[in-house]
Amino acid sequence: MRRSFVAGNWKMYKTAAEARLLLSELLPGLVSIKGVEIVLCPPFTSILPVASLVEGTEIGVGAQNMHWEASGAFTGEVAPPMLAEFCKYVILGHSERRGYFGETDENVNRKVKSALAHGLVPILCVGETLTENEAGVTRDVVIRQTQAGLSGVDTRAIASVVIAYEPVWAIGTGRAATAEGANAVIAGMIRAWLASTYGDEAAQSVRILYGGSVKASNAGEFFQYPDIDGALVGGASLKATEFIPIVKAAAR
Ligand code: PGA
Repeated sequence: MRRSFVAGNWKMYKTAAEARLLLSELLPGLVSIKGVEIVLCPPFTSILPVASLVEGTEIGVGAQNMHWEASGAFTGEVAPPMLAEFCKYVILGHSERRGYFGETDENVNRKVKSALAHGLVPILCVGETLTENEAGVTRDVVIRQTQAGLSGVDTRAIASVVIAYEPVWAIGTGRAATAEGANAVIAGMIRAWLASTYGDEAAQSVRILYGGSVKASNAGEFFQYPDIDGALVGGASLKATEFIPIVKAAAR
């Protein structure tokens, strides 16, 4: 059985001092929750303080991006071995990276393969824009991004990948997908594609999350669907009163 998974994507919020304060509110509520893998993804400069504060707990730390090369003359970039000292996870291909920073499917794929090679768990984000959704091409977009992102990832490695379905129109808008709609994409498109590509057993081993305006009041609806293994949470991960109940709702 797949273990539930909830990751908080802090985006470009929280200085190191603010991160310590948020941790002091989150930790007492989070440490006692069993049956869910909990991951906090602060900005790079807050990774070290967060990693040292969660040490000794089962809470994991992730980054929000990385370069695919192990080192090199790439001013402003962060390499996988630098993350691997403090993190076990890395969010890759988030729609804000694709939309604002020109990340292509090809570069996302380089990052996914590099993360796996460096022992990091990639959280591969896929999702359609509002225009694409209204044009009825959700399946084309989601499968193209999944297939391209996982190109060259073999059946043995696939269980180490986490996929997050995040419709772009639901991110930060307060307008979440319906649980039924999210399940149609997650079970009917992504997991079905994984099964046809990697076989049933491998497809059943991959955690697939929903992301986009998840909050304490709607999280439980998504987790009722057995194929929705958890959530990637943005705005609500910055508030202990929101994030703790979301994690509790995901516990299996
Ligand atoms: P949101 O963001 O929860 O604020 O909609 C989700 C995400 O971008 O991962």
